[in-house]
Amino acid sequence: MIVLGIETSCDETSMAIYDSNTNSILSSKISSQVELHKRFGGVVPEIASRNHLIKLEEIFNEVVNDAKIDIEDIDLIGVTNAPGLIGSLFVGVSFAKGLSYSLKKPLIGVNHLAAHTLSTELEHLELSPPYISLIISGGHTHVYYVDKAYNFNLLSYTIDDAVGECFDKVAKKLGLPYPGGPEIEKMAKNGDENRLVFPIALKNDKLFSFSGIKTAVINTIDENKYTAADICASFQKSILKNLTHKFDIILKEYKVNKLVVTGGVSANGYLRDKLTKYYQKKGINVYFPSKRLSTDNGDMIAYTAYKFFSKKIFMGLRETAYDVRPNID
Ligand code: KG4
Ligand code: ZN
Repeated sequence: MIVLGIETSCDETSMAIYDSNTNSILSSKISSQVELHKRFGGVVPEIASRNHLIKLEEIFNEVVNDAKIDIEDIDLIGVTNAPGLIGSLFVGVSFAKGLSYSLKKPLIGVNHLAAHTLSTELEHLELSPPYISLIISGGHTHVYYVDKAYNFNLLSYTIDDAVGECFDKVAKKLGLPYPGGPEIEKMAKNGDENRLVFPIALKNDKLFSFSGIKTAVINTIDENKYTAADICASFQKSILKNLTHKFDIILKEYKVNKLVVTGGVSANGYLRDKLTKYYQKKGINVYFPSKRLSTDNGDMIAYTAYKFFSKKIFMGLRETAYDVRPNID
């Protein structure tokens, strides 16, 4: 099957074409809106939707040409329909519905968090569920137990800020550009990670909370006593400690030897390295997507659409805008 994946849930307009016969991506294009949102210090939903609309047709033509296929060769269309910014989701889903109608090809709504998780399978051919999935992005901090049939059972989530949001807000306070995660990672390289200790919230609970760390870091910045490099390094270490602390609680309940870590924050080299080493000692393999597939992309949508199609999960064309859901459930 030739599968088109469409992703417009936040500020990346992306499409990719996946070929199930060769289990490979034939073409892929990611157009980031980061420069448009930079001066606002975060994503502006209205600007995001308008720019998806402007970009979609151009990107569609590019991926079809790059894959050296005809439009009619597409057998299946997958599109992110939840969760995400409602306007942005609408644009992608409307485009996908129009295409599905005109080509008379099936359409599947793909859950963005499921797709992040499955992106690892595209690059680690040996990987299959059951495994535990941790999604750490600008909007989400979610842990799922994924069973053999690809049922996603929610084990934990954040009760306030997402990890990426916390990185972005700390970076903003330090005067670093948006998105803050990569900037903090760079700055932390020259800092002492043991200079400061930030808290682990809800210590006996598997639920995450990051607003306390965020406030503690912001108060520390206001004290003007420490270098930005030391603050960034100590902050990054405290995020790591929070993740492993909660995971250790979860792993007491769920015995698995595979952990999948995805989402924008999983691009962080320090977290990758430390998580891999920490869990290796416990006999658990940690899988990450390549850095390119860590942030939002159409590749993961196309691949997940194929997987879901194999399970016969369809989204009807006559359903209304109700198909688009900003929340995870
Ligand atoms: O998955 P993603 O592209 O979009 C969402 O679905 O949110 O994630 C974006 C988030 C931003 O908060 C960004 O600061 C963070 O991922 N991020 C990082 C790094 N690269 C991106 N956080 C920490 N370290 C990084 N290297
Ligand atoms: Zn994402």
